[in-house]
Amino acid sequence: MSRHPLYVARIKERYALTKPGSTKATYHIVLDLQGCPFSFKVGDSLGIYPHNDPLIVERWLSRLEVAGETQITDSRSGQMMSLESFLAEKANLGRVTPKLAEVLSYTGPLDIDPLEILRPMAAQELVSLLAPLLPRFYSVASSLIVHPNEAHLTVVLSTYEYQGEIRYGVASHFLCHLAIPYVTPILCYVQPAAHFTIPAESHLDLIMIGPGTGVAPFRAFMQERLALSATGNHWLFFGERHRATDFLYEDFWMELSQQNKLRLDLAFSRDQAEKVYVQHKMEENAAEIWDWISRGAYTYLCGEADPMAKEVEQTLLKIFEIHGNLSTEAARLFLKTLRKEKRLLADVY
Ligand SMILES: Cc1cc2nc3c(=O)[nH]c(=O)nc-3n(C[C@H](O)[C@H](O)[C@H](O)COP(=O)(O)OP(=O)(O)OC[C@H]3O[C@@H](n4cnc5c(N)ncnc54)[C@H](O)[C@@H]3O)c2cc1C
Ligand SMILES: NC(=O)c1ccc[n+]([C@@H]2O[C@H](COP(=O)([O-])OP(=O)(O)OC[C@H]3O[C@@H](n4cnc5c(N)ncnc54)[C@H](OP(=O)(O)O)[C@@H]3O)[C@@H](O)[C@H]2O)c1
Repeated sequence: MSRHPLYVARIKERYALTKPGSTKATYHIVLDLQGCPFSFKVGDSLGIYPHNDPLIVERWLSRLEVAGETQITDSRSGQMMSLESFLAEKANLGRVTPKLAEVLSYTGPLDIDPLEILRPMAAQELVSLLAPLLPRFYSVASSLIVHPNEAHLTVVLSTYEYQGEIRYGVASHFLCHLAIPYVTPILCYVQPAAHFTIPAESHLDLIMIGPGTGVAPFRAFMQERLALSATGNHWLFFGERHRATDFLYEDFWMELSQQNKLRLDLAFSRDQAEKVYVQHKMEENAAEIWDWISRGAYTYLCGEADPMAKEVEQTLLKIFEIHGNLSTEAARLFLKTLRKEKRLLADVY
């Protein structure tokens, strides 16, 4: 369990941000924090303890030939609970651990569904053979100043194929499908981001690079900066697959752009034959990016760690070399200095 204080929130609102016809499903989820005395700053994430799908839990119980209400002791917490609750809330049901393989005398590859090898055994014996169900992190997409008692999340449903069957990622399936609004308790905690937040000085300019769900914290940044009447300029680089179906929070960004409160550069990767990514839009605007950064702008990057964040960093280096007239080594050093001074901040996953 986490060493942070845990809270029980509930989903208050949930809707798809991607439109019908999209090749992915990304949801806006509003957690109700009423009665949860917790606070976070923009840029922080929430750690969420998911539940496994009850259909999968049922398959496990039937394979084990044990009744769900059988009481067990969770060896990690020392807590007594039913086997059904343990399988639903505490156990990683997606992984064959070496201990489980050994007890089942299984010597094949471990990247299979444990159900393929599971056989009847005593409930308490099984408990000690499974890995724990770990929390997943989600960037908070709202500011407490604008939405008190709420935390908004931007969650992409993770899907993969297993032996021809479509399967879902545990936590995204839980948040996007299984958790019942107003009913299902969502156990969570605040995972603070050390420096990934807006600067205290409101006149400083912000460059935000956030393709896909990486845009989530920047919605929170902009909400808070507007609420605080910040005088600095804002520039967002956002990318997704298709403009028609995947432009997350389109109305919010377009309105800010039309009001000249946000400079917006968009990269819809699959709207043309050649891929267009946020770093390509950065290259097109290289001279001005250099101008903003050399005048003190803070640069933020959020989203997929590899390859997206790595490629964006390479693009920044190129911009420093060409427009800052720096050698390769000097550009590297400049990037390092920006990082050290917390003027280049990344939250990548
Ligand atoms: C600081 C931080 C912030 C984050 N912010 C966000 C955010 O704002 N929004 C967001 O959507 N995500 C965010 N994430 C990612 C998020 O935490 C989860 O990792 C993500 O939602 C996937 O979790 P899951 O439980 O749904 O999938 P998991 O069950 O963990 O599975 C993940 C992937 O593993 C693969 N996989 C799993 N099991 C199998 C199998 N048996 N066979 C083959 N492949 C398999 C699949 O590709 C699957 O999609 C963030 C992560 C971090 C660290
Ligand atoms: N398993 C799943 O079902 C599933 C579904 C969605 C996301 N994910 C994973 O979840 C994480 C975040 O997903 P997300 O929805 O936030 O967004 P994402 O999948 O990272 O995609 C957002 C945008 O970034 C583009 N992109 C891909 N590679 C890039 C690169 N190297 N540089 C810059 N842009 C790049 C994508 O283009 P293209 O896609 O056109 O290349 C898309 O336009 C990723 O790790 C992703 O792999 C998994």
